[in-house]
Amino acid sequence: MSAVGKNRTHESAALHVSGEARYCDDLPELQGTLHAALGLSPIAHGHLLSIDLELLRRQPGVVAVLTAADIPGENNCGPLLHDDPILAAEKLSYLGQPVFAIIASSRELARRAAALARQAIRCEALPPVLTALEAHAAGQYVIPPMHLSRGDAAAALQAAPHRLIGEWRVGGQEQFYLEGQISYALPQEQDSLLIHCSTQHPSEMQQLVAHALGWQAHAVQLQCRRMGGGFGGKESQSALFACVAAIAAHRLGRPVKLRLDRDDDFLITGRRHGFDYRWQLGFDGQGQILAAEVELIANCGHSADLSAPVMARALCHFDNAYWLPHVAMHGFCARTNTQSNTAFRGFGGPQGALAIEMILDSVARRLQLDPLLVRQRNFYRDEAGHNTTPYGQTVEDNQLHALTEQLIASSDYHARRAEIAAFNASSPLLKKGLALTPVKFGISFNVVHLNQAGALVHVYTDGSVLVNHGGTEMGQGLNTKVAQVVAQELGLDMAQVRCSATDTQKIANTSATAASTGSDLNGKAAQDAARRIKQRLLPVAAKLLGCSEADVCFAQGQIGAGERRLSFRELVAQAYLQRVQLWSEGFYATPGLCWDREKLQGKPFYYFAYGAAVAEVLIDTLTGENRMLRADLLHDAGQSINPALDIGQVEGAFVQGAGWLTTEELVWHPDSGLLRTHAPSTYKIPTANDMPPDFRVSLYAQPNAADSIHCSKAVGEPPLLLGFAVLLALKDAVAACGPAGCDPLLHAPATAERVLQALSQT
Ligand code: MTE
Ligand code: MOS
Repeated sequence: MSAVGKNRTHESAALHVSGEARYCDDLPELQGTLHAALGLSPIAHGHLLSIDLELLRRQPGVVAVLTAADIPGENNCGPLLHDDPILAAEKLSYLGQPVFAIIASSRELARRAAALARQAIRCEALPPVLTALEAHAAGQYVIPPMHLSRGDAAAALQAAPHRLIGEWRVGGQEQFYLEGQISYALPQEQDSLLIHCSTQHPSEMQQLVAHALGWQAHAVQLQCRRMGGGFGGKESQSALFACVAAIAAHRLGRPVKLRLDRDDDFLITGRRHGFDYRWQLGFDGQGQILAAEVELIANCGHSADLSAPVMARALCHFDNAYWLPHVAMHGFCARTNTQSNTAFRGFGGPQGALAIEMILDSVARRLQLDPLLVRQRNFYRDEAGHNTTPYGQTVEDNQLHALTEQLIASSDYHARRAEIAAFNASSPLLKKGLALTPVKFGISFNVVHLNQAGALVHVYTDGSVLVNHGGTEMGQGLNTKVAQVVAQELGLDMAQVRCSATDTQKIANTSATAASTGSDLNGKAAQDAARRIKQRLLPVAAKLLGCSEADVCFAQGQIGAGERRLSFRELVAQAYLQRVQLWSEGFYATPGLCWDREKLQGKPFYYFAYGAAVAEVLIDTLTGENRMLRADLLHDAGQSINPALDIGQVEGAFVQGAGWLTTEELVWHPDSGLLRTHAPSTYKIPTANDMPPDFRVSLYAQPNAADSIHCSKAVGEPPLLLGFAVLLALKDAVAACGPAGCDPLLHAPATAERVLQALSQT
C-alpha cells in the first residue's frame, strides 16, 4: 500500500503553521465590500415593540439597516423545524438574539452602530425561563418527549436486591472554534450569489439562503475551502450569518461580509446541551445492572435546531458499553430563553454515555468494589441475551473486553491503583485519583438518508489529479484522507493529488460533515470515482502494454505488467487522444441501515468504534485545585488510513472532553439571562498547560469488520468520550477523603470550586 495506512502530514499543515492557510476572512476583499454587524436583543424574553431605525441610519458609515421586514422570503434559518428566525420579528426569545443588521462601510463602524441596540430596541419584557428543570416542570419543550425502553424496568427495579436513586447534572460546552462564524456574500449576475462561508454544511446553507431570498437553489453557490474548526458549531448555526450576508448583498448589490466578534459569537450561537438527569438503578451484590430508569432533560434553548437528533443520540448512547436487561429512558428537550443549543462533537452521545458511567461509579462505591470491575462485569458480551442495545441493534465485532485488557496491562492499572491507595494513606492534603472508562460509539447519522456522499475526480492530461467531495475540511484531515484514498486507487504519489474547496456547484445535496462520517462517506465516494476512471484506463493500458487487463497494475505512479512499464502521465495522455473520459463522479450510500424514529428502534449504526482511557489526577484538598498527572488512551480507529492524523484526533478529542468536564463553565445571569462567560477571560478552555505531562496515546490496531473505507473507523467524535476518565478520576480522589464506601456528589464541570464543595460533603 503506497498512500493509505501511512502517516501523512495534513495537506495544509505547513500553511496552518506559517499562517498562509486562507480562511474566509483572508480572501482578498472585492472593491465596494460592505460589512455587517448584528444588533442583539437586550432581554431574554419579551415582545419587540419597535426599532429606532432613524437613530441607527444616522450613525457614521451606516449604509443600510435590515430588519425582519426586509427578508424577501422565509424568515427562518432553522435546520429541521422552521422555528428559528434570522432576525427577530415580534418575539424576543433570548438575550443576544439578532434583531437587526447594520450594513456599513467598515466592520468597526458597523459594530459601533450595532452596539446601540439597547437604545434602538423598544421592547416589553416577560419573565424568562433560564433552566431546563424550570422548563421541564412547566412542560415547556421544543419537541415532544422521546421514550426508549426495553423489558419491564419498573418491575425489575422493584425486584432488584439493591437500588440507587440519584440526580446529576452536566453543563454545556462552547465549541470555541478558533475561526469565528463568518460569511462573505458576493452578488453575481442575474440574481445569483456566491457565498464564502465557514460551514460544515454547505448544501444546507445554500437551501436556507435560497429560501430566505425566495429563490431557487441553483441561484446560490456556497464555497468553503476550510474552517478554523467547527466542532458541530458550524453544522446548522452558520446559517444565520450566511442568510444575513446574502440578503444584504442582494439588496444592496454589493459584496457583504459578516464576521462575528468572539463575544457576539458566544451570545448569539448555541453549543453543547447541558443535561440534568434523574435515575433509578436496580443491581445485585456483584454490581450487575438489573434495571435502569432514567430521565434525561436537555437544555435546548429557545428553538429546536438539532435537539431532536441530539436527544436521539443521547438515548442511543446511555447504554455505552453495557448490557441493560430492563431499561426505560425518557428524553425531554426543554425550551429555555437561552441560545439554541446544537451539535458539538459527540452530538448528545457523550451526554448519554456519561450518565451510565456516573451511575456505575456510584454502584461500585456503594458496594466497595473497584469501579473498573463493575464496568467489566456489565460489558456487552458475545452471547445472545447480552449483546443487543436497547434500540435493537446487535453489538457485533465487540472489542470492549480485549481493548480494555490491553489498556489495563499497558497502563499498569492495578499496580497504580495500589500505589495511589498507599500515597493517599500517607498524604493528608494532596490526594490522587484514578479511573478507567470505556467507550462504544455508534457510527452513522441516526437519520438513514443522510448517509450518502458524492465525489468528483478530475484527471488532467499531465497526470495530475484534482479531487472534490461533499465533505468539509475543519482541521480533522478529511481532505488528506480522501486524497490518500484516491492516490491509493490510482497508484499515485500524494504530490500528484490535490483536494479543492467544497463547493455546491461541484457536488449537490451533500450531508453535513458531521457524525464523524466524513471519511467513511466521502472516502468511499471518491474511491468509487477513482475506480470508474481506472476502469476506463485499463483497456487503454492493456493495449499499450500488450497484456490482458487483469495483468495491469497501478502502483508508484507507474502502470505495469510484468517487466513493462508506462508512466501514469503517458497512459493518461494516450487515453485523452483516444477520447476516453478522464474525470468521473462517484457516489456512496451506507448499506444495511434502518431506523424507526417513532419507536427509536432499528439498526442506526453501520458499526461501533471503541476506546478506553485511564486518567490519574491530583487534587489539593484545601483549594480544590487539581491537575491531570497522566493519561493512557487506547482507541479503535480500525485499520487507520493515516495513524498520525488519527492520533491527533484522539489527543484533541480527549483534551476537549476533559475541558468540558472540568474547567469549561457556562454561567447565565439568573435574572437577566445574560451569558456572563462570553469570552476566554471567563470561559476556560484547556491550553497546552492542561495536557497531562505523561500522555500515552495508542491506536488499537484491528481492522473494521464492516466494509468501511480500507477497513478504517471514524475517529472524529468517539475519543471525546475518553475525557470521562478525568472526571471520574477527580471523583475518585474526592472519595479518597471520605470513609470507605462514600459516594461524593460531583457535578460537572468539576471546577476547583465544585471539587471543594464535594470535598466538604465527604
Ligand atoms: N477536528 C478538528 N481539528 N476540528 C474540528 O472542528 N470537529 C469534530 C471532529 N474533529 C473537528 C475535529 C467533529 S464534531 C466531527 S463530527 C468530525 O471531526 C467531522 O469530521 P470527520 O467526519 O471527517 O471526522
Ligand atoms: Mo460533529 S458534532 O457531528 O459536527
